[in-house]
Amino acid sequence: MSTLLSGLARNIESVEVVEVGPRDGLQNESTPLPAQVKVELVDRLAAAGLPAIEAAAFVSPRWVPQMADGAQVMASIRRRPGVVYSALVPNVRGMEAALAAGVDEVVVFSAASESFARRNINCGIAESIQRFEPVAAMAREAGVRLRGSISCALGCPYEGAVPASAVVAVVQRMADLGCHSVDIADTIGVGTAGAVQQVFEAASRVLPLARLAGHFHDTYGQALANVLAALQIGVRSFHASVAGLGGCPYARGATGNLATEDLLYLLHGLGLRTGVDLQAVVDCGDFISGALGRANSSRAARALLAARGAAGCETAGAH
Ligand code: HMG
Ligand code: MG
Repeated sequence: MSTLLSGLARNIESVEVVEVGPRDGLQNESTPLPAQVKVELVDRLAAAGLPAIEAAAFVSPRWVPQMADGAQVMASIRRRPGVVYSALVPNVRGMEAALAAGVDEVVVFSAASESFARRNINCGIAESIQRFEPVAAMAREAGVRLRGSISCALGCPYEGAVPASAVVAVVQRMADLGCHSVDIADTIGVGTAGAVQQVFEAASRVLPLARLAGHFHDTYGQALANVLAALQIGVRSFHASVAGLGGCPYARGATGNLATEDLLYLLHGLGLRTGVDLQAVVDCGDFISGALGRANSSRAARALLAARGAAGCETAGAH
């Protein structure tokens, strides 16, 4: 392990990478994709070794039409033993659909800012937690894992700076609901390393770091620095999106999530185990970028693809 991670985080040897591309990434793509392509993406990501994949969202199709085929996607994927397939649910109706689809984990989502919560789920933070209470009860009864996600934890497109105390309050509410872990999400990618350490340290006073995850967007090019800052204080679960897909339909200007390939390149370079095959994820990113007709946003993937091309040329030249 790198000396960069000595000190508080010295016990970390492996890191969990949660793949959010099929949900957080594809929900924001304007090119409509057939369910079969989404299924192939999820199956390829699982085969690459990703241990947890957000595969669908059971939200209103009026709000996010890209996720309307969640049941079809969940029914068609090849379940790989050991992989956690999760879906976002905003209310009881979504929970019923998620349970019928056989998800392993449901994700309830709110925000650290009132304005973003209203734009995203059409209710305030307190009301969202009330909506999640029956969802949490259903999860307990069904034996399905419950995770919480907090958007705009490092800044809000409508309110600007968000105090760490506002994040902590929502972490506490989600812990009370029974969430086994909570994501601190920088939805618009404005966070910097110091602010990231501050918010995680504050949140860890109500939920241990081992039950918190970092979800960073790269709008200002800070996502990898933010991962490193979080790693240094002991966070060991991070979200990322293959090929850097994504953004957020209710956060204009937010770029994609941190690319999975970039995250893996950093983690493996630090000597941390993820169980994920970076080259296989590069292939997944190439596949989905081609299906969407868009450029691959991962810097590491572009470099690795270029290196493959160069190696191919050298081999060809040798004959
Ligand atoms: P609403 O309009 O207040 O609710 O929306 P409603 O109960 O009046 O329902 C509106 C319509 O949706 C009705 O249909 C309902 O039946 C239907 P209509 O009668 O008009 O034909 N409906 C549903 N349909 C399917 N599944 C459901 C469902 N619920 C209602 N579960 C609501 C409230 C919460 C439903 C809506 O605001 C919503 O679905 N919002 C989701 C927005 C969303 O998915 N945003 C992206 C995910 S969050 C995110 O990406 C951030 C995160 O990744 C972290 C980060 O990146 O930083 C987590
Ligand atoms: Mg995101």
